[in-house]
Amino acid sequence: MIDTDSDTALISVVEDMQADNQLGNSAHRTDSYQEYRANQPRSPTGGRGTGSGNKESSPLLGPKHDHDHHEHYWNSFPDDPRFEELVRQAEDAIENNVFPQRIYQGSSGSYFVKNVEHKIIGVFKPKDEEPYGQLNPKWTKWMHKLCCPCCFGRSCLVPNQGYLSEAGASLVDQKLQLNIVPKTKVVRLASETFNYSAIDRAKARTKKNIYAKVPSVGRRFNRIGLPPKVGSFQQFVVGYKDADFWLRRFDNEALPESTAKKFQLLFERLVVLDYIIRNTDRGNDNWLIKYETASAAAVTPETESTRDDGDWSIVSNPEISIAAIDNGLAFPFKHPDEWRAYPYHWAWLPQAKVPFSTDTQEQILPLLSDMNFVQDMCDDLYDLFKHDKGFDRHTFERQMSVMRGQILNLTQALKDGRSPVQLVQMPVVTVERSRMRQDTDIFTQSFSHRAPFFSWC
Ligand SMILES: Nc1ncnc2c1ncn2[C@@H]1O[C@H](COP(=O)(O)OP(=O)(O)OP(=O)(O)O)[C@@H](O)[C@H]1O
Ligand SMILES: [Mg+2]
Repeated sequence: MIDTDSDTALISVVEDMQADNQLGNSAHRTDSYQEYRANQPRSPTGGRGTGSGNKESSPLLGPKHDHDHHEHYWNSFPDDPRFEELVRQAEDAIENNVFPQRIYQGSSGSYFVKNVEHKIIGVFKPKDEEPYGQLNPKWTKWMHKLCCPCCFGRSCLVPNQGYLSEAGASLVDQKLQLNIVPKTKVVRLASETFNYSAIDRAKARTKKNIYAKVPSVGRRFNRIGLPPKVGSFQQFVVGYKDADFWLRRFDNEALPESTAKKFQLLFERLVVLDYIIRNTDRGNDNWLIKYETASAAAVTPETESTRDDGDWSIVSNPEISIAAIDNGLAFPFKHPDEWRAYPYHWAWLPQAKVPFSTDTQEQILPLLSDMNFVQDMCDDLYDLFKHDKGFDRHTFERQMSVMRGQILNLTQALKDGRSPVQLVQMPVVTVERSRMRQDTDIFTQSFSHRAPFFSWC
């Protein structure tokens, strides 16, 4: 397969060289530009550390060299050094042949990313391996798209932008200080364990051979090795289990009062997040709960399994936290159709019948009632979404119209002291910005005459 592709690969390599040389020229524009680059983190496939000694055993992940600086620009998070360090650890690990590992249970290509000690530190979901991405490793999804193109995917979502939805959810979480979404940002990584086309692999091999045989020519390549993939990188949270697991336990054994109160607050944050971003995929497997008894907090991960089976309800101050993961199916550009509703599964939980707490009202209302805050959030999402090659301004405005409508309903529900169940029963609304001038503050509300897509039974 690779042999058949080698001619095409060679042609592509020559084309790449031409492009790389152009890029190389432009990359040497000014001194300040070079200085800026010099301070940026390493490329997804290159790095310091001991990686250079491993080149032989990692044939497709090429050596770092001077010409790869345009890739440094990615994976740079000056305002979040901790996250940058996390990504750096992932790059180091890949450089040292500790590759991301596919999560087999998922419907798309998602990967556990490790550090050099083989500890899982993140979850990477490349754009082109999303359920309907061109390199999705699950052939059933591919067949689905091929045989049933009219109804594949969720028609209310922008296709193949799940990674942006993941990062967008984290952005909204941070803006509102909900702190329930593990930090997620758009990152570029390359790894042999990712799903690449045969031609990409052949190209990488050809470049590597040229580099080995004629280094003077090889050095002119902008990048040697597999191309980095753009995707969402989410911090891995330790000690959590699927919400389903703990919810079943809580059904049988009531939580201590203070823990139940904390859990209610966290639950309300999940509702706020999901409602604003109009998440269409919040099953109880897509959020996690960590439940730790006070005495267990000091227990090492090795003894964790024994603890989980112990009698957790008798300890006085158990700690509880939640993590909202798998946010790739949110930010629809229209409300889901009636016949194909995507309910918020948390609405069936007993916690959803309790009116929003004063704490949540006080935290969220001042922010959402401020038009400037909401506009700021839309602007930040624009800055994030606009980098996708399929970005369309009009579709983005529609996404924001849905989100503003959700915010309007949520604000009203919080003001009225309603419960999450009552919130999801409100008629959906979109709030459109004036079509005449996108930079105006004139908004039009339109309420749906349809019955709400969720009803309590
Ligand atoms: N940030 C995280 N921290 C800890 N565990 C995580 C994290 N993200 C995902 N996981 C674990 O990996 C599993 C799969 O993750 P996720 O649901 O995001 O992937 P997916 O490929 O979208 O799967 P699916 O399509 O089945 O929903 C989760 O059920 C969870 O156990
Ligand atoms: Mg999932």
